[in-house]
Amino acid sequence: MPHPDAAAWRRVLSAIATSESMEHHVLQPLLLSYSSHHEAVRVLTQHSADEQRHAGLLTGYLRESLSFTKMKPTKSDQIFYHVLLPSIRFLVKKRPLLGFSLLYFYELFSVQLYAQLRKKAEKQKLVELESLFRQIEKDEFRHIESMKTFIQQYSTDRIHRVWLSAFLWLFRLDIHMGKYALYNRSLRKQFRRLGIDPDTVINKSSWRALTQCRDLLRRPMQ
Ligand SMILES: [Fe+2]
Ligand SMILES: [Fe+2]
Repeated sequence: MPHPDAAAWRRVLSAIATSESMEHHVLQPLLLSYSSHHEAVRVLTQHSADEQRHAGLLTGYLRESLSFTKMKPTKSDQIFYHVLLPSIRFLVKKRPLLGFSLLYFYELFSVQLYAQLRKKAEKQKLVELESLFRQIEKDEFRHIESMKTFIQQYSTDRIHRVWLSAFLWLFRLDIHMGKYALYNRSLRKQFRRLGIDPDTVINKSSWRALTQCRDLLRRPMQ
């Protein structure tokens, strides 16, 4: 695609494809801890397959339409996806609520981000990309509902919630794109290039997702 924003789309889509492909680090331990629950296994297996498919759709688009294949991980990938995320697998298996909350937070953030990107693709008449986002968003809304159902099975006390919030806040750094963001500087620039302001759009979306997640954890068990 000889498109003026091709470089920006490459960087942004590549970062999102990596996040999508890494969700299994959280889904696999959840599957292990719920292995005796038939319905939960079905839902989580479907969820995991969806995320792998999303990563495949995005990397396919990058390859076919933007002539781009990611060859090496970014610094942010090395910290979050190669060290931090794999190291919490044991913790998630022991405390599934941690995994469900983390996924709920990411999914809430992702639907806001995908909506912004879809609008941009529509404006730039990138029909294939727009429909790809639409497909992914549909799945993400389903994931939000299933994570919500899992979370509502748990009750939390105040200490538990403070601990969970701190954990989510740490993972929010992965998508943090504020002025002082350590590793997302280049991504910040490319989002700007696409007309999506990191301060008003990305950071507000992640705060909104964090707040929605905290609110759900505060609600009484159903
Ligand atoms: Fe996804
Ligand atoms: Fe998802």
